[in-house]
Amino acid sequence: MLVLGINAYHGDAAAAIIRDGQLIAAVEEERFNRCKHCAGFPLESIKYCLRAAGASIEEVEHIGISRDPSAHLHKKILFAATRAAKSVGGFERSKSQPGGRGILGAVTERLANTAKVRSLKDELAKTLGLARGDLQAQFHNIEHHRAHLASSFFVSPFERAALLSIDGFGDFISTMWAIGQGNRVEVLGQVEYPHSTGIVYTATTQFLGFPHYGDEGKVMGLAPYGEPRYIEEFRDIIRTDEGGRFRLSLEYFRHHTEGVEMSWDEGSPLIGRIFSDEYARRLGPQRESGAPLTRRDCDIAASLQQRLEEVAFHILNHLHEQTGLTDLGLSGGVAYNSVMNGKILLNTRFRRVFVQPAAGDSGTAVGVCYQIYNGLLDGERSYVMEGADTGPEFSDAELLAELERSGLSYETYSDRETTRRAAEDIAGGAVVGWFQGRMEFGPRALGNRSILVDPRRADMKDILNERIKKREPFRPFAPSILEERVGDYFEQTHPAPTMLMVYQIRPEKRASIPAVTHVDGSGRLQTVSAKVNQRYHQLISDFCALSGVPILLNTSFNENEPIVCTPRHAIDCFMKTRMDVLYLGNHATRR
Ligand SMILES: [Fe+2]
Repeated sequence: MLVLGINAYHGDAAAAIIRDGQLIAAVEEERFNRCKHCAGFPLESIKYCLRAAGASIEEVEHIGISRDPSAHLHKKILFAATRAAKSVGGFERSKSQPGGRGILGAVTERLANTAKVRSLKDELAKTLGLARGDLQAQFHNIEHHRAHLASSFFVSPFERAALLSIDGFGDFISTMWAIGQGNRVEVLGQVEYPHSTGIVYTATTQFLGFPHYGDEGKVMGLAPYGEPRYIEEFRDIIRTDEGGRFRLSLEYFRHHTEGVEMSWDEGSPLIGRIFSDEYARRLGPQRESGAPLTRRDCDIAASLQQRLEEVAFHILNHLHEQTGLTDLGLSGGVAYNSVMNGKILLNTRFRRVFVQPAAGDSGTAVGVCYQIYNGLLDGERSYVMEGADTGPEFSDAELLAELERSGLSYETYSDRETTRRAAEDIAGGAVVGWFQGRMEFGPRALGNRSILVDPRRADMKDILNERIKKREPFRPFAPSILEERVGDYFEQTHPAPTMLMVYQIRPEKRASIPAVTHVDGSGRLQTVSAKVNQRYHQLISDFCALSGVPILLNTSFNENEPIVCTPRHAIDCFMKTRMDVLYLGNHATRR
């Protein structure tokens, strides 16, 4: 049985397909159309999923989307009615208009987008060039947070677990917690619009002069440079309540009254200003984008990060008390806060944490598949998502064809020789592009679409930024470490296979790996096991044999665009940056 899941008309549009409960493919649309976090309809992703499954759309029995316009409808109506005299704000899909939009426009657009979600069948038939009657599948609307929860449970190793989806908004809800057992997810609590931890993080990110969708990670990287001097202000901005709940002090925000311009059309999502003038009254003037970062800016970031952690542990401690469980499945956009994730074991009674590799909205495509297969159809659970290599791969003939087309000279090695040579290149100070196997799903490159360098060299961060990444200098780079050696270098050893945990590096080891040690002594590690990625594990082992260090600096294979998908993307990136060596499978091209 084939089930297709879709995230559409929302940031990080994506598709996933499962056959008899096994995940065949999952991929984000941005990797095909090269538009970061693109929203809209994930047509190329759907086509890829069908190719990977070797099936036509007519053979798919169930198709679902991670939105349900009818969910919480009574709450939406109640909220809209109480606010109608002012305007209709919202974090549903809508189109940005210069100079704002009137209430009529907002309502019209929202209805139009709701209609799109409802008419998934029509949209799919139209974009695939089929008649509506050709689609035999049963169609499903899966509520946004149900899809998140499913994505963190049904593919986890847990038979029973506490679950938390923590997010901006989806289907009028920001946060939902639940208990998962077998094929059932029972919702225990939720926090509704307009209260959201994700919104506080995004608003503060904007206030600090980082305006783009997905910039929150920059503020997380900035936080360790500051002191939480504004923690009381943030405790006022977001307050905790009994029962694991929290609420915003709404005077700090615009989303609930004036409406915020947003675009979820084709292209990167755009979000207008969320914070109100109250931010400046309490924290001083907004930082302009590109202005020098001040001590105050760092302190605001530190305070925000601390408050997020306090609220998250407040929810999680309640969830533990309510369930008595020590296994946790975590999802939602806020679950990309790897600093928060890395402190869960230290601050709660949870003992094992599974963070779905695409914890954000793209991962709801996977959640939709499993909510249908396990939750609705009672299919057997038989798949654990241990890695994230669910995207396109290319044959050796395709790699060779692209190299020939490029006119670059190259050498070809045996499997064993390839990792040895690459390890020598890295230990010799080269910046190495590493393109192998299937592309990763989710925001992190995990050793298949990566740029790799020597973590021992203090100057590597600057070299990477100057030659390729052009990132803000305060942002850290991440280490990949052999799973069996984690305890030698890090203070915690719980596996972090998808680079979604930040742990403290042991003080005595920090000086030996300066390129991956953040200013506060932390590192956002990826634990690499031979079982999940044999070739990457071999490469790090070969590097360790040369250097004595079981770690590589791993950053995503891209310049400032979505991670490369095809060998052509990789060659283009190699040509326009100052990378030293590019490995495409077993073929190496050097400058
Ligand atoms: Fe979400």
